[in-house]
Amino acid sequence: QTDQAFTFVLFGGTGDLSMRKILPGLYQAHRDGVLGKAGRFIAVARAAPDREGYLDWVNSHVRSHVPKAAFEDEAWQSFLERFDYVRLDATNPEDFHKLARAVGSGEGVRVFYLATSPSLFVPICRSLADNGLSERARVVLEKPLGYDLKSSRAINDAVGEIFAEEQIYRIDHYLGKESVQNLLALRFGNVMFEPLWRREWVESIQITIAEKLGVEARGDFYDKTGALRDMVQNHLLQLLSTVAMEPPLSMDSESIRKEKLSVLRALKPLPLNDISKVAVRGQYTSGVINGQQVPAYRDEQEVPPDSNTETFVALKAEIENWRWAGVPFFLRTGKRLAESKAEIVVNFRPVPHSALGPSVLQTVGNRLVIQLQPQESIRLYCLAKQPGPGMQLQSVHLDLEFDEFLKSSRMEAYERLLLDVIDGRLALFVPRDEQEAAWRWVEPILEEWSRPEKSPKFYSSGTWGPAAASAMLAKHGTTWLEEEN
Ligand code: BG6
Repeated sequence: QTDQAFTFVLFGGTGDLSMRKILPGLYQAHRDGVLGKAGRFIAVARAAPDREGYLDWVNSHVRSHVPKAAFEDEAWQSFLERFDYVRLDATNPEDFHKLARAVGSGEGVRVFYLATSPSLFVPICRSLADNGLSERARVVLEKPLGYDLKSSRAINDAVGEIFAEEQIYRIDHYLGKESVQNLLALRFGNVMFEPLWRREWVESIQITIAEKLGVEARGDFYDKTGALRDMVQNHLLQLLSTVAMEPPLSMDSESIRKEKLSVLRALKPLPLNDISKVAVRGQYTSGVINGQQVPAYRDEQEVPPDSNTETFVALKAEIENWRWAGVPFFLRTGKRLAESKAEIVVNFRPVPHSALGPSVLQTVGNRLVIQLQPQESIRLYCLAKQPGPGMQLQSVHLDLEFDEFLKSSRMEAYERLLLDVIDGRLALFVPRDEQEAAWRWVEPILEEWSRPEKSPKFYSSGTWGPAAASAMLAKHGTTWLEEEN
C-alpha cells in the first residue's frame, strides 16, 4: 500500500508487454486499492489517435489478460478514468513538449516506464531531461537492456549521464514472483537449510523456465534476440544468483545486491573454444501442443525462413567460490516445450554410507523442489520406510503448498514491482554492475553462436528440447527432473 503521489508515464503503451503484463499489473494494483489516490497514468504511443482510441484499444486488448477472478467491472472503469494519453513519436524530441504539458508540475514522483525497444532508451531519456522531466523522476528500463555487453554499457553510460543510479529501475519480473521471495524466506528464515546449502551436501542444482508458448506475435523482436538474451542473461542468472548468494546482512537493496553481484562475478568463465560442452542451443520445429498442431519457428510470422535464432538453451554453469566450487548449476529455458513450468531443483548428495542397505544409494534421496509456475510450491523429498516387513524405502515429500494462503493476498510480479518503483524500493531491481556481470558471462556464447556456420539443433514442438540437453546432464550422472522414472 502506498500513499505516494505519482504520475506514471508508460512508453510503448500499445506494445505486447504493456498489453500482457504492465497494464494488467497496474489494473490489479488499482483494484487492490494499494495505489495512492493522488496517482495518475499517462500512456504514450504512436498507434492510437487519441485518448478515446487508446481506451478502446485497452478494452479490446488488455481485459483478456487480467485473470478472470481479478476482473471487476467497476474497478476496471475507474482504472480507465485514471488515464491520459499522449500521442508521441519517441524519436522526435519536438513531441516531448506535449508530454511535458500533460505531466505538468503536479506533486509526487514521476515514473517513466520505457516498455520500448532498447534503441529508444537513450533518445527518450534525453528528451525527458531537455523538457525538465528528469526531476523527481524514476526511470524503468525493460530487458533486454542492449544486445551485448558493449551496447548495454553504452546505454547505461548515456542514461547514467541523465539519471543517478538510484533513479534507474532495471526490471526483471522474475524477481517479483512470490516464490522467489519465498526462497529468500526459506533460506534465511530457517535454520535447517543454510548448513546444507553448499558443495559438501549439494550435488547439483537445476533451474528451468519452460514455456509451451511459441514466439506469438513477437517474431521480429524475438528473432533478433533469441533465448539466451531473452531469458538466460536476465531471468535465469537472476534466479541463479538468488539461489546461490551468501546470507545478506539485511533485506535492504544494498545488502541483497552486494551478495548477488558476488555470485555473478564468481561465475566460472565459459571455455571459449569448447562452448558446445557446456551449452546446447535448439530451435523448435512443428509439433503438437495441447492437442493442436503448431508451426515451426521458421514458419512463424516475421521470422526469416532460414533463421538460426535459438528458442531453447541449456547450459552448465559453475560458481568459483568456497560454497559452490565444483557444483554444476544446470540452466534451461525454451519455447514450445512439453510443459509450462518454472522450477529450481536442489539435488542433495546421497548418504555417505547406507546402513539401511544398498537400495538407499540407488533411490533418489533428498531433494528440494521450488516451483514458481504454474503452481507455487516448495517440496522437500526424503526417503521413508514402506510399511510392512523388511526395510524397503520410498521417496515421500513434505509439502509447502502456497496456493491456499496465496489466494486471498496474491500479488502478481508486475503489480509488486510497479508498486516498488512508485515507493522507491530498489531491492528487487537489477543494478548496473549485476547486469553487466551477467552480459560478461554470456559473451563467449554469443560470440560462438553468432558464427554463420553454427546452427541450432532442431527439436519438435511439444518435447523437452534437443537430446543433447539430456546428454549434458548424463555426463554428470544426473537427469532433468521430469526425465526421472
Ligand atoms: C519475458 C520474455 O521476459 O518473460 C518472454 O521476454 C517470456 O519471452 C516471459 O515469455 C516469461 O515470463 P512468465 O512470467 O510468463 O514466465
